[in-house]
Amino acid sequence: MSATEYQRIRIAECAAHDGKKVEIAGWLYNLRRSGKICFPQVRDGSGVIQCTALKNTLPEELFEGLKHLTQESSVIVRGKLRAEARAPGGYEMEIEDATIVQKVPEEQPYPITPKDHGIEFLMDHRHLWLRSRRQHAVLGIRHEVIRAVRDYFDNNGFTLVDTPIFTPAACEGTTTLFEVNYFDEEKVFLTQSGQLYNEATAAAFGKVYTFGPTFRAEKSKTRRHLTEFWMVEPEMAYATLEDVKRVAEELICFVTGRVLERRKEELAVLERDVSKLQAIQAPFPRISYDEAVERLKKKGSEIEWGGDFGGTDETLLSEDFDRPVIVDRFPTAIKAFYFQPAPDRPDVVLGADVIAPEGYGEIVGGGQRIHDLDLLLKRLEEHQLPREAFEWYIDLRRYGTVPHAGFGMGIERFVTWMCGIDHLRETIAFPRMLYRTRP
Ligand code: 4AD
Ligand code: MG
Repeated sequence: MSATEYQRIRIAECAAHDGKKVEIAGWLYNLRRSGKICFPQVRDGSGVIQCTALKNTLPEELFEGLKHLTQESSVIVRGKLRAEARAPGGYEMEIEDATIVQKVPEEQPYPITPKDHGIEFLMDHRHLWLRSRRQHAVLGIRHEVIRAVRDYFDNNGFTLVDTPIFTPAACEGTTTLFEVNYFDEEKVFLTQSGQLYNEATAAAFGKVYTFGPTFRAEKSKTRRHLTEFWMVEPEMAYATLEDVKRVAEELICFVTGRVLERRKEELAVLERDVSKLQAIQAPFPRISYDEAVERLKKKGSEIEWGGDFGGTDETLLSEDFDRPVIVDRFPTAIKAFYFQPAPDRPDVVLGADVIAPEGYGEIVGGGQRIHDLDLLLKRLEEHQLPREAFEWYIDLRRYGTVPHAGFGMGIERFVTWMCGIDHLRETIAFPRMLYRTRP
């Protein structure tokens, strides 16, 4: 029997190869055995397939090898596929041949077993934990979210322009900057947001987006904060706060729809209540910050007008709605320097946050930018930001300035919500948090 008569396929492709001789290269996921028969389950990253190995049809050595195979050993199995409604994935293979690529030594078994492990143990073994069904499902949904986000912007006339990671200036306040030693004693910062650069490229292309890693030296150890997270940021020229709300709403509905349509299996693995996601339809409720504060006070929050929402406030607010709520017109004093003040009321800005339902917190933040040169100069000064680092940004107000607006959506927060899980650390392959930079 030669290996060449078997076609190499991935488990996800089984349906197209029913009754055929195929080869699947993967890892041992699970194994049941009894005397003359054993049932290795093999996973290959695209799915899991149950196999059958019979003592009387296989060479002795091979049967014994399979029967004593250890969890996560790498193995290539060959045999005929058969539809089997009761099997996970719907197909089974009767093994005719196999190659054990590496057997995980019995004296040093795979550290993650079906028993309960503590979260710190699992995070320390993140490089292996990623192979488990649940983590696989979460990252599959992340992939879908990212693809849908890109499709949304690509199909709606936005140009992708990547923005730099090393930046000379703070976008989101100076307290959360990571400083990096650059050459010749120059200091630069890891980017907190690509927004300032988006404002430049929006004047070149009209509608742009950037999608990349962003960094915040945030000393908050919460289930909603990473120090390195991925953000998608659209920016539009000749646009206002209203455009931000409309585009954010459309984007969220589009991406949620895609996840529901294409990731049913992953949502099932995570036991996600999909009715909660099916409710995500436009229009989203829209309330002002003023109204949000009133609502929160009635619910027993200690917030006063002028304060920023805490995580608990966001959760309390989301209780009133079955879909994301858009909150706008925040106090100027708590917002970044670039926000355009409301013309009728300069103590609030034309900014909006989208707060996810079910207590998942703020997923989108954005608004209209200051386009007036003098006002921008004044705000930079009030925020004590170094003018020379912003000279190029100020230029944008000298050469064809227009009202413009945009927002940022945090991918890990969004994925956490889609998956219905507790903590965003599971939504990125290798999370970076206050107390975790490894593996
Ligand atoms: O509200 P933020 O800070 O807005 C900005 O950075 C703007 N410059 C974006 C723009 O207008 N282009 O962050 C935007 C989003 C938040 O709503 C949240 O989803 C996510 O980024 N985010 C975080 N996600 C994980 N960990 C953190 N530490 C985060 N900080 C913000
Ligand atoms: Mg924000």
